[in-house]
Amino acid sequence: MDRASVARMGAVASASVCALVAGVVLAQYIFTLKRKTGRKTKIIEMMPEFQRSSVRIKNPARVEEIICGLIKGGAAKLQIITDFDMTLSRFSYEGKRCPTCHYVIDNSKLVTDECRKKLMQLKEKYYAIEIDPVLTMEEKYPYMVEWYTKAHGLLIEQALPKAKLKEIVAESDVMLKLGVPGWLSGKNVRLLILGLEGYENFFDKLQQYGIPVFIFSAGIGDILEEVIHQAGVYHPNITVVSNFMDFDDNGVLKGFKGELIHVFNKHDGALKNTEYFNRLKDNSNIILLGDSQGDIRMADGVANVEHILKIGYLNDRVDELLEKYMDSYDIVLVKDESLDVANSILQKIL
Ligand code: TMP
Ligand code: MG
Repeated sequence: MDRASVARMGAVASASVCALVAGVVLAQYIFTLKRKTGRKTKIIEMMPEFQRSSVRIKNPARVEEIICGLIKGGAAKLQIITDFDMTLSRFSYEGKRCPTCHYVIDNSKLVTDECRKKLMQLKEKYYAIEIDPVLTMEEKYPYMVEWYTKAHGLLIEQALPKAKLKEIVAESDVMLKLGVPGWLSGKNVRLLILGLEGYENFFDKLQQYGIPVFIFSAGIGDILEEVIHQAGVYHPNITVVSNFMDFDDNGVLKGFKGELIHVFNKHDGALKNTEYFNRLKDNSNIILLGDSQGDIRMADGVANVEHILKIGYLNDRVDELLEKYMDSYDIVLVKDESLDVANSILQKIL
């Protein structure tokens, strides 16, 4: 063999080795890629709303499985169980806290300055307990009873007139959650985007498909109903269970009807509303929306549950509470003032 042939053979051999190495590397790359994509869940990865940094999910595969179950069951099997304050309504707007149902009254012209001061003192003390990251729900429970008893007592002393509730809701800063496109979020676009997405889409779609909505709130029912009425979304598929005011013959507040609902006794809501949930025996797929740790248990006692997706808004003390929330809610929405994730899931189901 002459030197040229040897050189040619050498070149061919090293080219083959190179090709082989490249082949192995490529095969390995494809294999890794496949394994990775194999591990990826499909639906939630294709939904842009789920790609936001505010969306935190501990177990994406489980969420995927639940959402698949919800999609399979469709409108016929679906029902919504949702909290109100800071879940359907906003926690903050332009850096300012938005009111809860109670706060709509506390901050209104219907209460005296002295009473308002007392109510604010109560709020300061007991809200801190409500969101305390260390105390257990059982430990918080008696404090919540104390808060509600004292606050409702003060409101009764003010002899609130039923006829004025419409007015104070209209004058308040209460806001239902809107759809907030990323590039607009934080800007003063309230009017621009009003009605395009968010709560209107949420409530209208649920109404259109006849999905029962159970609003379970430890707020004040009369205020809550007025808020959703004034927003034009109080449709017949909605049932509100909350603390309703009891008025005397002159339309003056004399107490509250029924058993008190506070932040941490929502676990027996289904048991206390058996008639409602019995009627919905076939609606075995549930989307639960809440913001408090007490809300996680709003569907406890619902007899026939096939799939339940728990979505939790985490608005305050995020760093200390995130892990707890991720352990108990399937999807945690951190400082998210929109209903985009819920709406995107509804869009897949309906
Ligand atoms: P929710 O169950 O619809 O979220 O409503 C309960 C919220 O109301 C809860 O976060 C505590 C809050 N609240 C006040 O803001 N002021 C009060 O005086 C009381 C008793 C409760
Ligand atoms: Mg709430």
